[in-house]
Amino acid sequence: MLCCTLSTTLLLAATCSLMTAVLSTKRAITCGSDGNVQRLSCDEGVISVYTALYGRANAVACSGGIPPAQLANTHCSQAGTVDVVKKRCDGKEECELNINVFYTSDPCFGTYKYLNTTYTCLPANQGQVISVNGANYGRSDHTTCIYQRPLNQVQNISCSSPTPQVAASCNGKNGCTLAANNAVFGDPCVGTYKYLELAYTCYYPGNSLLP
Ligand SMILES: *[C@@H]1O[C@H](CO)[C@@H](O)[C@H](O)[C@H]1NC(C)=O
Ligand SMILES: *[C@@H]1O[C@H](CO)[C@@H](O)[C@H](O)[C@H]1NC(C)=O
Repeated sequence: MLCCTLSTTLLLAATCSLMTAVLSTKRAITCGSDGNVQRLSCDEGVISVYTALYGRANAVACSGGIPPAQLANTHCSQAGTVDVVKKRCDGKEECELNINVFYTSDPCFGTYKYLNTTYTCLPANQGQVISVNGANYGRSDHTTCIYQRPLNQVQNISCSSPTPQVAASCNGKNGCTLAANNAVFGDPCVGTYKYLELAYTCYYPGNSLLP
């Protein structure tokens, strides 16, 4: 899934089909400076987060140019970090998190923190098909798809445009790819950088326990 490159080339891939994936652990460390973005991605399969720490567990990571006093506490971690990362990233082919989402509380004032995430790429479900629960083209937060975007393009978070097109294109298939752009969905808010967000489930077509 390409989320955040150019609006004209945005693609959204929803898939329930078999993918081969190597279950190796991937790691991402992002230093805690204002506005830094952590990006997780899988070339094949979908993200499954193992661990995530926002805080500091050793003195070496993200220490360049930082005064020693801000590196001394190596027992600092913000509760709930892994849940935040899982909620944002699990099941997706790519995701990004602005470090600022962790600024709501400070687990160790005066310590320079970082976000350390470990994850793997799991195969998507074999033999299942898609059922789209909902899809929206627009913008409803300040943190999704903001990488290298000017502030004025990501400010309006009241840009909502529920769209039936995704269900029409994807329901009953085991994979589908859609361009996420104004040509497909129209422009619900001119000047705002938009993204397509959808909720879907996968089910076995022969199963009587349909969602
Ligand atoms: C990041 O987390 C992993 C898993 O807990 C751990 O093995 C690794 O040492 C951590 N790295 C840093 C710099 O905290
Ligand atoms: C955001 O965009 C919507 C849709 O174009 C518009 O109705 C609304 O006034 C905009 N809000 C702000 C704060 O600009």
